Amino acid sequence: MDTFNFSCVPNIVSAPGAAQSLASLIRQHFPQVRRVLVVTDPGFLATGLVDAPVAALENAGFAVSIYSDVRADPPEAVVIQAAEFARGCAAELVIGLGGGSSMDVAKLIAVLAGSRQELKTMYGIGNVTGDRLPLIQVPTTAGTGSEMTHISIITTGETTKMGVVAPQLFADIAVLDADLTLGLPPKATAATGIDAMVHAIEAYTNKNTKNPISDVLAYKSLSLLYTHIDAVCENGKDRSARQAMLLGSMLAGMAVASSPCAGVHALAYPVGGIFHVVHGISNALVLPEVLRFNVPAAAHQYAELAAIVAPAARGSDEAKAMSMIEELERLAARLHVETRLSQVGIKESDLDRMAEDAMLQTRLLKNNPREITQADARAIYAATL
Ligand SMILES: NC(=O)c1ccc[n+]([C@@H]2O[C@H](COP(=O)([O-])OP(=O)(O)OC[C@H]3O[C@@H](n4cnc5c(N)ncnc54)[C@H](O)[C@@H]3O)[C@@H](O)[C@H]2O)c1
Ligand SMILES: [Fe+2]
Repeated sequence: MDTFNFSCVPNIVSAPGAAQSLASLIRQHFPQVRRVLVVTDPGFLATGLVDAPVAALENAGFAVSIYSDVRADPPEAVVIQAAEFARGCAAELVIGLGGGSSMDVAKLIAVLAGSRQELKTMYGIGNVTGDRLPLIQVPTTAGTGSEMTHISIITTGETTKMGVVAPQLFADIAVLDADLTLGLPPKATAATGIDAMVHAIEAYTNKNTKNPISDVLAYKSLSLLYTHIDAVCENGKDRSARQAMLLGSMLAGMAVASSPCAGVHALAYPVGGIFHVVHGISNALVLPEVLRFNVPAAAHQYAELAAIVAPAARGSDEAKAMSMIEELERLAARLHVETRLSQVGIKESDLDRMAEDAMLQTRLLKNNPREITQADARAIYAATL
């Protein structure tokens, strides 16, 4: 607890409508920049919400190119193609404008565009050698918190994901603008909101690098997210609840940057990788049983978080922890999120392969409060079937 490192994105702008001020932010922080690359995906481009920030940049005299071929759970080939596109338009600054997928691609474009290092040598922790282009992240989901992390998650094979984790991937500026999230459909709002809650919970219980700063961030984050998630799922146009969700997911991202995710994410990856279940739902599915498995090692910390999620809980730490888990199960049901693996097409005969794949996520598993063996992982999946 008393020995830790903490780094974060140095500039955060949080205000509804803030994406309209990108030009003045760029002028203030990077006065030499003229050519800007906006990175997004076809789904967000189709909302029309890219148009106004881009028009504002062009009106301010910037040359703007748009790369909009990002795919969810971005494959390696997309990153390589996007970096070539950035070189082709001589981009001097990269703006990630989208969900975690677009922001993760934007990070890697920023390091690849100005460097000869190949992507395949960057996977793992601290393997990026060069510098990067200036980088601004504008999340449109609340969410991954990717705008605050130095992590980029890429789909490398058919079903496997790998992370590039390096200090260069911290953005220069994060812009939180609720207006960009008002049209996110309820199911995606619920899934991404639960993902952010999992970030807060896993940061708070990380076995190795949990620290006083990540604790404060994770606690406040969970409080904001839990307080506002019902409101944004019921009424997506609730601007102030949407801004609070962005703030909560940003704080969780800031927490996981120093106190990363653990067993829930490790067991969620095979669900997403093999069965193409979106990231937030994959996490929501395995969350209750991983937490139940962790109770013997994390009851005290879960009891502390129960003060937010299940404030009426009484009794021992274990009892409060169980109340928190039950409330999270009720929340998923209330938000119409799948709660059983069978609902996303997973069968008993898939569980061995999933447990085997989960064991590959050593980067995450090592942070879990209780060691998860392959047999444990299989049992957790079986209990969620
Ligand atoms: N780098 C990190 O720290 C980190 C952390 C967690 C997850 N991730 C990664 O992030 C990715 C998931 O990101 P995500 O959950 O934000 O989803 P996403 O970026 O994959 O987007 C999902 C869908 O939502 C649409 N969308 C996004 N914003 C919208 C809006 N405002 N209105 C309407 N539609 C909108 C997109 O078009 C897309 O179709 C995964 O690849 C995951 O591995 C990264
Ligand atoms: Fe996540």
